[in-house]
Amino acid sequence: MPKVYIKTFGCQMNRRDSEALLGLLQEEGYFLASSLQGADIVLVNTCSVRQHAENRALSFTASLKNKVKILGIIGCMAKARGEEIAQKMPYVDIICSPAKMAEIPRFLKEAGEGKKTLALEDGTRPEEFYHSSFRFEKDRAQVVISTGCSNYCTYCIVPYVRGPLRLRRPQDIISEVKKNIDLGIRRITLLGQNVNDYQYKLSAGDGSALGGQIIDFVELLRMIEKIEGIEEINFVTSHPKNTSRELFELMASSQKIKKHLHLPFQSGSDRILKLMNRGYTKQDYLKLIDDYYCIVGGTLSTDVIVGFPTETKKDFLETKKILEKVHFRYAYIFKYSPRPYTKAFSLKDDVPKEIKEKRHRELLDLQKRISTGKV
Ligand code: 5AD
Ligand code: SF4
Repeated sequence: MPKVYIKTFGCQMNRRDSEALLGLLQEEGYFLASSLQGADIVLVNTCSVRQHAENRALSFTASLKNKVKILGIIGCMAKARGEEIAQKMPYVDIICSPAKMAEIPRFLKEAGEGKKTLALEDGTRPEEFYHSSFRFEKDRAQVVISTGCSNYCTYCIVPYVRGPLRLRRPQDIISEVKKNIDLGIRRITLLGQNVNDYQYKLSAGDGSALGGQIIDFVELLRMIEKIEGIEEINFVTSHPKNTSRELFELMASSQKIKKHLHLPFQSGSDRILKLMNRGYTKQDYLKLIDDYYCIVGGTLSTDVIVGFPTETKKDFLETKKILEKVHFRYAYIFKYSPRPYTKAFSLKDDVPKEIKEKRHRELLDLQKRISTGKV
């Protein structure tokens, strides 16, 4: 059987997708190559969140032209730019959106017979996608609780490439957690673009007497906490607009839930937050942080974007002030990158490149001093 390698760009969600897909392929009899060298089949699992990530994935793929038997571009950039890639890179055999990944074993078989695939549809993934036992790590695992997003932050391409928010059923999430525990993995990270959006309405079809009851994220955490053998629960990402005190109270009282919160604020300027459609103000965010420190007393990390259209020096200084004030353990700082399909794409990308770079550097330097305890 041929050897397959998946090169992953981007976030934890992509990494889990690659892992689940490798597991599926292993069950189909494929060998998993531990590195690019020696692989007959290479799938490039791509990220579209910023242009830079797309460029890296494209040049990586181009470097493999005529070097492997089957080459695929899968994931977010396939969905965003599939037609264009098919035209410009005719040597790519499989182009597959995130929603169609469970069908890759079939696409590979067809590629072996010389047929190319362009599968760009959106839709609900079959539950079986998550069922294989292959894991990258021995002592921790990621479990997807929802795919897609319906928040439509104006800079973000995710709702367009991963589709609207779709929830996995609580019983499916729990059975995946239990499977990890059976594999000896007791530290779990729950993944969703915004975990707080998890609101699953139980129905008769869920085999529960609790038809009609809503399982929200806090309730889901309570259910997972009770699973025998679980030792540590982490989750990403939390959106400030619907992070609740109830979550903080559970985090405070739990022996299992890690006292760390990834809470992206993106900008400290109310005007920019509004243009981003984030649904909170700087004051709301700082109040949430106060509550978090008071109730949980844990650590924090965040994401920040500099150079969003119309961002002035004053807006930027508001963002800087939040970093100085909150003292995040980590902050991921990004330069704004206009993304197709998004609302902000129609705004003029008017912060000059040099200013974006200057602001980016300034925040990176500041955060480095904070993270190393020098501020
Ligand atoms: N430009 C720059 N950064 C972005 N992010 C999302 N979209 C963009 C974009 N268009 C950042 C946000 C998000 C993180 C995952 O990526 O900060 O929280
Ligand atoms: Fe993108 Fe906003 Fe959804 Fe996060 S919450 S994935 S930033 S649209």
